[in-house]
Amino acid sequence: MRKFLIAGNWKMNLLRDSSVALVHGLLDELKGDPNVEVAVCPPSVYLHDVGAALRGSQIALGAQNMYPAEEGAFTGEVSGKMLVDLGCKYVILGHSERRTLMGETDAQVNAKIYAALKCELLPIVCIGETLEQREAGNTSKVVRDQLRGSLAGLTADQMSKVVLAYEPVWAIGTGKTASPAQAEEVHADIRLLLVELFGEATASKTVIQYGGSVKADNAMELLGQPNIDGALVGGASLKAELFLPICLAAQKVKK
Ligand code: PGA
Repeated sequence: MRKFLIAGNWKMNLLRDSSVALVHGLLDELKGDPNVEVAVCPPSVYLHDVGAALRGSQIALGAQNMYPAEEGAFTGEVSGKMLVDLGCKYVILGHSERRTLMGETDAQVNAKIYAALKCELLPIVCIGETLEQREAGNTSKVVRDQLRGSLAGLTADQMSKVVLAYEPVWAIGTGKTASPAQAEEVHADIRLLLVELFGEATASKTVIQYGGSVKADNAMELLGQPNIDGALVGGASLKAELFLPICLAAQKVKK
């Protein structure tokens, strides 16, 4: 059975004190559940403080990006090893904001996945179509192309350490959510492609999160879909009272 992963992507929000306060708010209320992993992904400058607040708890730490090289003259960048050094377990790669605003390509995401796996970080690889692409009937093609490019050359064993996050770009930060049926259709299609690329055993074990305006009131129905294995949550991860009900919904669905 696949474990759920509920991850909060804080993006470029909060400051040090509010980051630590948010973690305390989560830890006060959240009970551990062996079937639901919860992670938070703060800005890299707060990984240290958030990691210290999380130490010994059931909540995992993740980063929002990394550079593929191990070390060297890459001003302003952060390596996978550095993230591991700060206690990170996960790293979000290829988020649509990075693809759109920073021009990140599938090839770059691919290089980052290899670099992350090499230092035993678990990548959360994001894919998703724009509204224009959906309306043109190209959702499956776009998502499959992104996956083929981003996951190129991985072995089944390497893929077994990768989490995917399907995030339709039109649903991110817009308040518009894919309906459970729309999301499930794409998740099922992704799993079919994984069978083709990596075989049935790996495909059936891969965690595929949904992301895009996930909130307390839509989490339960989305997470109830057979191929949706968690959520990557932006806006609603910035307040304990918004994020906790999503984690609780996941725990209820997994019972
Ligand atoms: P959102 O962001 O929940 O604010 O839509 C999700 C994401 O970008 O990961």
